[in-house]
Amino acid sequence: MKVPYLDLKAQYESIRGEIGDAIQQVLDRTAFAGGPFVAQFEKEFAAFCGTRFSAGVGSGTDALWMALLALGVGPGDEVVTVPDTFIATAEAISWCGAKPVFVDVDPITYNMDPSKVEAAITPKTRAIIPVHLFGQMANMDPILAIARKRRLFVVEDASQAHGAEYKGKKAGSIGDAGCFSFYPGKNLGAYGEAGAVVTSNEELDRKIRMLRDHGQAKKYYHSLIGWNARMDGIQGAVLSVKLKHLDAWTEERRRNAKRYDELLRNVPGITVPVEAPYAKHVYHIYAIRVAERDRLIASLAEKDIHCGIHYPIPLHLLDAYKSLNLGKGFFPVAERSAAEFVSLPMYPELTPAQIYRVAGEIATLLESERRTVV
Ligand SMILES: Cc1ncc(COP(=O)(O)O)c(C=O)c1O
Repeated sequence: MKVPYLDLKAQYESIRGEIGDAIQQVLDRTAFAGGPFVAQFEKEFAAFCGTRFSAGVGSGTDALWMALLALGVGPGDEVVTVPDTFIATAEAISWCGAKPVFVDVDPITYNMDPSKVEAAITPKTRAIIPVHLFGQMANMDPILAIARKRRLFVVEDASQAHGAEYKGKKAGSIGDAGCFSFYPGKNLGAYGEAGAVVTSNEELDRKIRMLRDHGQAKKYYHSLIGWNARMDGIQGAVLSVKLKHLDAWTEERRRNAKRYDELLRNVPGITVPVEAPYAKHVYHIYAIRVAERDRLIASLAEKDIHCGIHYPIPLHLLDAYKSLNLGKGFFPVAERSAAEFVSLPMYPELTPAQIYRVAGEIATLLESERRTVV
């Protein structure tokens, strides 16, 4: 029995009719760039997140970039974030002309360690970007308290956390802005590239809408230098269909995570993910930690079980950020987890039989390794 890391086809098959109808409507109205289907999705997604506004953009990277630009982040500024995230979090900072300043993460949740944030703040700091890694929100209260005290903006990178909660509040609704990716493999994934910025700040929303559309509020009256970061009409229509299913899919992910937890928790050599008491985890990624992970991943692949690594190199050690002069040892928690993470197959349509197979093979492989060592 093959277990792929992700099975987008299985989900598509379950909603094929609805998707076909939705795309046909976009074609019939030739509403390809922005337009009514994007506007409809924006309304629905803001309601889902519990914010007043949502602006659809071209990708999660655009969402982060537009949010920072709209908040006035620019050359000479610094933005505090974490090194264990996808590079887009830092790229958005860099493309504003600002400098990413990393702080290490908490060893249990792998999210921004609030106790490390104050020390990273300088007179140049303008904003903090906590990343809700793997679908679990960062510990927002202490981060917000620091931001308020230091008059900094908070931009949530919620690209992996659609529907996740912190003390009952939805991802994206707590900071000044929340940024989402709808990359196809995400919990709410488009059928192409797309993203959104949610906020309850009307002025911020207005500015993001202008920036994503060449700095214009009225056609050809450009009051800002913006960019083309609009969302496609087809993506808006697809996302509206998929949003209706998201809560049910999230429950399936949570059920699958529980099954993995139960089967793997007591296997020696494995650390399973922990759901923090304040959090509702949506398990975009189910990452365990294993010391000899490369061997494990290769052995599983031989058995047609396919895993991922998110992410093998923390941002401060990537060539792209060599100029920051941050070597090994700067962020030990992020470095250690990057060396040990294994992302197991995780999607709503994963069957109990597939989960038993993955967990069973992992337990057998680790047990035989232990025997060899002894
Ligand atoms: C944490 C995080 N931030 C930002 C992004 C960028 O999103 P996109 O790929 O839609 O540009 C992603 C998605 O890959 C992500 O996982």
